[in-house]
Amino acid sequence: MAKTSLDKSKIKILLLEGIHQTAVDHLLASGYTNIERLKTSLSEDELVEKIKDVHFIGIRSRTQLTERVFEAAEKLTAVGCFCIGTNQVDLNAALARGIPVFNAPYSNTRSVAELVIGEIIMLMRRIPEKSRSAHQGGWSKTAAGANEVRGKTLGIVGYGNIGKQLSVLAESLGMRVIYYDVVTKLDMGNAHQANSLDELLTTADIVSLHVPQLPSTEWMIGGEQIALMKEDAILINASRGNVVRIDDLAEAMEDGHLRGAAIDVFPKEPKGNGEEFESPLRGLDNVILTPHVGGSTEEAQQNIGIEVADKLITYSDNGTTITSVNFPEVQLPSHPNKHRLLHIHKNVPGVMSEINRVLGEHNINISGQYLQTNADVGYVVIDVDKAYGREALAALREVDATLRTRVLYSDDDAA
Ligand code: NAI
Repeated sequence: MAKTSLDKSKIKILLLEGIHQTAVDHLLASGYTNIERLKTSLSEDELVEKIKDVHFIGIRSRTQLTERVFEAAEKLTAVGCFCIGTNQVDLNAALARGIPVFNAPYSNTRSVAELVIGEIIMLMRRIPEKSRSAHQGGWSKTAAGANEVRGKTLGIVGYGNIGKQLSVLAESLGMRVIYYDVVTKLDMGNAHQANSLDELLTTADIVSLHVPQLPSTEWMIGGEQIALMKEDAILINASRGNVVRIDDLAEAMEDGHLRGAAIDVFPKEPKGNGEEFESPLRGLDNVILTPHVGGSTEEAQQNIGIEVADKLITYSDNGTTITSVNFPEVQLPSHPNKHRLLHIHKNVPGVMSEINRVLGEHNINISGQYLQTNADVGYVVIDVDKAYGREALAALREVDATLRTRVLYSDDDAA
């Protein structure tokens, strides 16, 4: 039977904004050779023109994928955001056209955890103020107020990907770790979960925040919580800028309640490198201020290249949409000796019975079916005998609510 799946060399991939070489290597190794790379982003007008024959697009944070761009993207199958945020993409416009969007939320986990470890050590030794003094010709050689981290208690708020990674690194330095999370978690190593945020705040020598941006985490650390922290404790925030009330923190540093702080994220951050950074923490002793670089390392960029390219390849080869930020998530097995039909439809009543009726009318025998829906869109994946591929796909296209269909040939044919 003739193949109708698109040959991989014909699948056009456009990568913008200097996406890392690891992404290209990964795509090439998986047989995707039709790749165009640009160092910059494109304007909306340029994108509207360029995207017409593109099947997969990779962007970072500067490229805006608007409704107008999606309208022009006749062949677009999926979007890869080679970054964390997806605000630059009109996710609903993508969803309405059956296009999943992927990102890389966890590739910089290690980078953040390592920065926090470094900051803990620096702050415990009061290095920021000693360094500043030395730069100015001072010589403050003293052991007073300088401590090892071994045996100290680290309190981690938010025991997710970063919190857990930090927990492991901290224990390897001989620290005690306690954590607070709204979800019951499995302890890493000898760490243990605190019963409440207050318990953690009153127990820890160092408090490090790793919660997501949610209504419940907004300003969760203010004057009241800082007052609960031990005299001479340290506060670290590399999560989101609106988790800590910065004015309250500045006050606690000025009146000497806290030993130190390291802040990487701020309620108001400059829009670009040229704009002045303003904060009440500027100029305070033993405060490390970093320009939202917790996750910014070469290694994180390499990992992001691999993580997102992998998600695009998996979706293209097998239909799996796990971790998509806008799309029903389906984890699919391989499909030897079967062709796989992907049907994306508007989630309207009766659509599944319509799909099954159409397949039944064509005497198409289904060997596997996977369905996931969200409020607007349904994604059904149907494995059928190899003999049926083209016929079954044509039948599925008859279904009224269809947004998009694709066929993937059996794994053994694809090899
Ligand atoms: P994650 O989603 O893996 O973990 C977050 C954890 O916080 C979860 O275990 C969750 O249950 C918990 N949580 C949610 N609400 C909570 C609450 N009210 N109190 C206590 N725990 C709560 O997230 P991940 O990847 O560990 O990232 C954590 C934060 O770090 C995010 O805000 C992310 O945006 C930020 N981040 C910052 C970077 C930087 O450059 N500074 C880079 C990467 C991430």
